[in-house]
Amino acid sequence: MNVLDRLETTLRVRGGHRLSGSVETHGAKNAALPIMAAALLAKSPVTLHRIPNITDVSVMRQLLEALGARLRSEGPGTLTIDPSNLSSYRAPYTLVRKLAASFDLVGPLLGVFGRAEVPLPGGCVLGTRATDLHEHAFRALGAEVSNAHGYLIATAVARRLRGGEVAFRQPSVGATKNALLAAVVADGTTTLRNVAMEPEVVDLANFLVAMGARVRGHGGDTIVVEGVPELHGVEYEIIADRIVSGTLLLSGCATRGDVTVERCVPEHLALTLAKLSECGVKVTSGTDWIRAEAERITGGTDILTAPHPGFPTDLQPPMLSFLCTCPGISTVEETIFNARFSYVNELARMGADVRVAIENNTALIKGGAPLSGAPVEAPDIRAGAALVVAGLAAQGETEIIGLEYVDRGYERLEEMLSALGGQVQRSSGISPVVEPLGTFETTAYPSLAARGPSA
Ligand code: EPZ
Repeated sequence: MNVLDRLETTLRVRGGHRLSGSVETHGAKNAALPIMAAALLAKSPVTLHRIPNITDVSVMRQLLEALGARLRSEGPGTLTIDPSNLSSYRAPYTLVRKLAASFDLVGPLLGVFGRAEVPLPGGCVLGTRATDLHEHAFRALGAEVSNAHGYLIATAVARRLRGGEVAFRQPSVGATKNALLAAVVADGTTTLRNVAMEPEVVDLANFLVAMGARVRGHGGDTIVVEGVPELHGVEYEIIADRIVSGTLLLSGCATRGDVTVERCVPEHLALTLAKLSECGVKVTSGTDWIRAEAERITGGTDILTAPHPGFPTDLQPPMLSFLCTCPGISTVEETIFNARFSYVNELARMGADVRVAIENNTALIKGGAPLSGAPVEAPDIRAGAALVVAGLAAQGETEIIGLEYVDRGYERLEEMLSALGGQVQRSSGISPVVEPLGTFETTAYPSLAARGPSA
């Protein structure tokens, strides 16, 4: 399939169908990526379970292989990483440019080689992706850090990093992960203050402990690490993806449905579930399941995104789409990223009444009016999910371009939603005729290839 056809792959959503039933969530993207990077620190092979089958994971796989690791799929969701032949501390730009999380490699490469050369993550549609907090941590652990030709170059002054005190100006998921990854094999004890408490950071710390690292305090605001000479291989299962779980629940709520998500961790979504209850959703949960019954929505609510345990910024877009269906006024204030409302323009094309005040990064939603299906374009992973949620609630058909973004963070989202009764279908540009979706006619989707070389 050529790149032009790939760009034409779309998701077609037929709205107005109430979602109901149970669906199992998959492993967490934002735990799998740093844990795959952390596997480089082991002296023997690591086997990981519940690795999601998403494109961000395949890019991370290619990065690890480019550095000399040997990877083997052992069945659905199971991956073995053998880092015993690592041959390079320089990550290739062609791969890093596709994945901001590639920056998680700096800590492990410093730990293995005492040196790391990784392209800077650059900007993305969410806004600036600064690295000053990462660099602050590396310097505090005895590394010299410089930026040259778009690369971050970090070199341990002594052969091994040394333990130290790191106080973060603000919690940062990425900087906390990188500091942790650099500290576990440093010489001495490290104290990390004002750290991120996200479940994915905790999962990374638990994985490192399983490999023999000495880490305590993760999940709180201060982590203490006693460096050890080396880490050993281990078999480990990644936690459930709370953002995918939340997206599935919001899809059900937007259609006034009754959806249960299984194999998830309810406490990872505590505030999100409280916010759904404020809108009139009946939320019940057990050890590893959450049920959201949304037959009677009473109104909207106010959201402020914040570091965990605050409302997760990655659920801000799907939540905003759901709030567009809730009668009354709602507000969503985004405090983590400075440009995370670009998808609102696409929602407006579906009839949503949302106004974004740039000065305080806050959206004001006047909800309740019916949404109408429209062709829309996803600018990033979670915005793509927001457009799917809106499409499920809308009258008529919504066609979403930019499916490659959704595929970065969601494993076959259309299959999970179809299992709940959603009318959602992937239509790739190369198949000129899209299989009819249930009760509505679909138009043939002309492939670019069919339009000849001038396309
Ligand atoms: C992680 O990104 C997640 N990505 C993001 O999920 C998530 O939105 C974010 O954490 C917040 O929860 C992965 O885990 C792969 P940060 P990360 O460092 O690590 C500023 C998704 O859709 N900052 O907590 O980049 C930064 O500019 C993605 O799955 C600095 O100023 O998040 C941003 O405004 C999107 N200096 C804020 O902190 C730094 O050195 C949060 O960044 C680092 C960050």
